[in-house]
Amino acid sequence: MSRQRWSSKTVFVLAAIGSAVGLGNIWRFPYLAGKYGGGAFLIPYLIALLAVGFPLLMLEFAIGQKMQQGAVGAFKRLHPKFQGFGMAAVLSGFIIIAYYAVVMAWALVYLFASFRVSWADSAEQYFFDSVLHISEGVGHLGGVNLPILLALIAVWILIYFCVWRGTQSEGSVVVYSVPLPVILLSVLLLRAITLPGCLDGWQLYLKPSWRVLADPEVWSAAFSQIFFTLSLAFGTMLTYASYKSPDDDIVSDTWVTALTNSAISIFSGFVVFGVLGYMASQTATPIAELAASGPGLAFVIFPQALSLMPLPGLFSALFFLMLISLGIDSAFSLVEAVNTVFLDRKPHWKIEQVSFWVCLTGLLAGIVYTTQAGLYYLDIVDHFVTHYSIMLAAIAQAILGGWVYGAESLRRYINAVSNWQIGAWWSVSVKYVIPVSLAVLLFAQLSTDLRSPYEGYPSWALGIGWALVLMSGGIMAAPFCIPARPAHQPQKNRS
Ligand code: PFF
Repeated sequence: MSRQRWSSKTVFVLAAIGSAVGLGNIWRFPYLAGKYGGGAFLIPYLIALLAVGFPLLMLEFAIGQKMQQGAVGAFKRLHPKFQGFGMAAVLSGFIIIAYYAVVMAWALVYLFASFRVSWADSAEQYFFDSVLHISEGVGHLGGVNLPILLALIAVWILIYFCVWRGTQSEGSVVVYSVPLPVILLSVLLLRAITLPGCLDGWQLYLKPSWRVLADPEVWSAAFSQIFFTLSLAFGTMLTYASYKSPDDDIVSDTWVTALTNSAISIFSGFVVFGVLGYMASQTATPIAELAASGPGLAFVIFPQALSLMPLPGLFSALFFLMLISLGIDSAFSLVEAVNTVFLDRKPHWKIEQVSFWVCLTGLLAGIVYTTQAGLYYLDIVDHFVTHYSIMLAAIAQAILGGWVYGAESLRRYINAVSNWQIGAWWSVSVKYVIPVSLAVLLFAQLSTDLRSPYEGYPSWALGIGWALVLMSGGIMAAPFCIPARPAHQPQKNRS
């Protein structure tokens, strides 16, 4: 059976940009920039982009395109013992999609509430009490929140219809879903520029605070943001590239994807800080305090700022529509990575059916996050998967590509199919810079988590996170522990 293909090079690049540009660009990046020194955060961020983000993205594109398989099949072709690495990466992606879809479901709930601006009195109370009905601790699961569950079902139906015909349906969606949030962001930017206080917000965003560069936490945050934002190490970019023809250009696609993604992050920083500047001017709260409010930025601070504007309903609706359109193509790229693992093994299976079962499993896996303790579980799982499982998968990928298969032979392949040539620095990055820098970050994080329990959660709850990390490690190691089957015995010479 012939492999599916993207309908054009542009559609592939749009799909890769769609996977990269997601919720992480609009709340995670501006919030990190606000927390870690405004303009100065851009320095570790850009260094991380060039030192590990760009080379690893190119590695994923090259492996997928050359091997013409999703993560598990491609890793197996690189070396049979390493297929577990692909499996662990895809599984981590699957864990992420289960809660990523829940965050999109919150955005959908807010979209419906936008016209009444239901949070106008107290955005914080609205989010934690009216939407999440948050329980007093991780041990109190409480019931399922029906509106969130219904919104989650709607999100999964949407995801299903994006992936159900594979690259064909995904290709038709990304043509709209990638430009739409950029247009909506531009509308919000124009709105922000006309508000008082906007320039103060921008000043905080761009004014560097150099002191923070000495703080290792800032570097760790910048590196993990680059991973999350470029969808690296989850097998998604590799899977997308496996639907290109083996002789397509790689270098230019990598540059376009990586630079567009970072440009959109920086752009959304202007929108967020402009609006926060306005809010600070209206509420006499320091902008830095608003910006450093953490993940609550998108669901507490921003809605509150929107409610203070003229025409609050309209701009709130545009904002939440933008969040959903930003998230959808990231979400379905994760599902596609899982679908491809099955379809590579069983090419005669129908994409519609595989998609259905993967989406249904994703929905069921997400139900825990719709409970009253859902936010706590989301926070714990996100912490362990993004700081450990993914780092392990990325180190493994660099070792497999760089050392086991050979960075130089991959580089020869990349240069043979690309217009722009890539220098030997790429091999140095894949073989040394990526594994060493990620291992340092991994151990630094480990020592932080061992010294003080993450966010003070009880040890049994953190045990769930550690169990997920151990499971990833176990899946990676399994093929090395299982003795290889004896090679096929050659038939006796009949003569
Ligand atoms: N890059 C997405 C974001 O920044 O929101 C998140 C993501 C999508 C992570 C796809 C991983 C992935 F495979």
